[in-house]
Amino acid sequence: MTQQPTNLAGLDLRAEIDRLRRERNAVILAHYYQKPEIQDLADFVGDSLDLSRKAQATDADVIAFCGVRFMAETAKILSPEKIVVLPDMDAGCSLEDSCQPEEFAAFRAKHPDHIALTYINCSAAVKALSDIIVTSSSAEKIISQLPKDQKIIFGPDRNLGGYLVRKTGRDMLLWPGVCIVHEAFSETELLKLKAKHPGAPIAAHPECPPLILDHADYIGSTSGILAFANDFPGDTLIVATEPHIIHQMEKALPGKTFIGAPGADGNCNCNICPYMALNTMEKLYVALRDLEPRIEIEEGLRLKAKTSLDAMLAMASATVGQGDLGPAKVTGD
Ligand code: 13P
Ligand code: SF4
Repeated sequence: MTQQPTNLAGLDLRAEIDRLRRERNAVILAHYYQKPEIQDLADFVGDSLDLSRKAQATDADVIAFCGVRFMAETAKILSPEKIVVLPDMDAGCSLEDSCQPEEFAAFRAKHPDHIALTYINCSAAVKALSDIIVTSSSAEKIISQLPKDQKIIFGPDRNLGGYLVRKTGRDMLLWPGVCIVHEAFSETELLKLKAKHPGAPIAAHPECPPLILDHADYIGSTSGILAFANDFPGDTLIVATEPHIIHQMEKALPGKTFIGAPGADGNCNCNICPYMALNTMEKLYVALRDLEPRIEIEEGLRLKAKTSLDAMLAMASATVGQGDLGPAKVTGD
């Protein structure tokens, strides 16, 4: 059930959130897909890997996670002594929904000689059934450290998995999940937009389907797309990921134009993540005030899930030999 804040009329929410953050010794972490007002008040805004690292390193007593449930669960798995609150416990993810632990366990059992490399966009229960977690910014580096003959199951995002197969040349068995947000981009509408802005490069998240990725000048995680936006030489960029990320681009580069890639109706609003959008200033205030809704994970499950997350954090930070990694920029694959 979505939490309904009590009547908060007349409150200066920003000031109240700041007061509670101090009183609770809380840190507010936010993903780039959050509303601008939440990104602007957060102590830290980042991609899934950055946010995991911050959650592990913080010395705050409370983590208020403005993102989706799998992200807040990751924070709790890595920092069990902290109180972790998620403003709306219904903030799920279509990828998490597509991969139920019982079905994932059965899939693994059918392929006992494969390791399970699993995208962080999954439940704690699926993390506990996995060997190594990856994010979109760490997956290639992690794959490059696996023996060439290692058989791999990759789930739950078949688009990210397919992109990694093409990029790394590794033959992975893919779970058939998708992100409903990135699936909604329309190739036809993207090409119409590109015809209007022929010089504008396209930056896309690897959760997009191949028909969209085929047109991308850059493919990467949210932080990768932001780095590309900082560096590209032109004045207009087409952005094929959740459009709230454009807030960071407009702040950093006010002279440039950033256009969200369109969905089938030609309107990029259909690419707003409905789960991320459940978090509001009102719910964040209530979460800091009541320290609810709180993430709780059974200790045995947490320890199993932590093993695969620890593997990710170690491999994402490892020094790997020159030539092990592909180029950051991809054109035409
Ligand atoms: P990253 O920020 O790690 O690229 O993930 C994108 C995403 O879909 C989060 O749900
Ligand atoms: Fe899940 Fe897609 Fe929303 Fe990210 S953008 S939380 S992958 S539904």
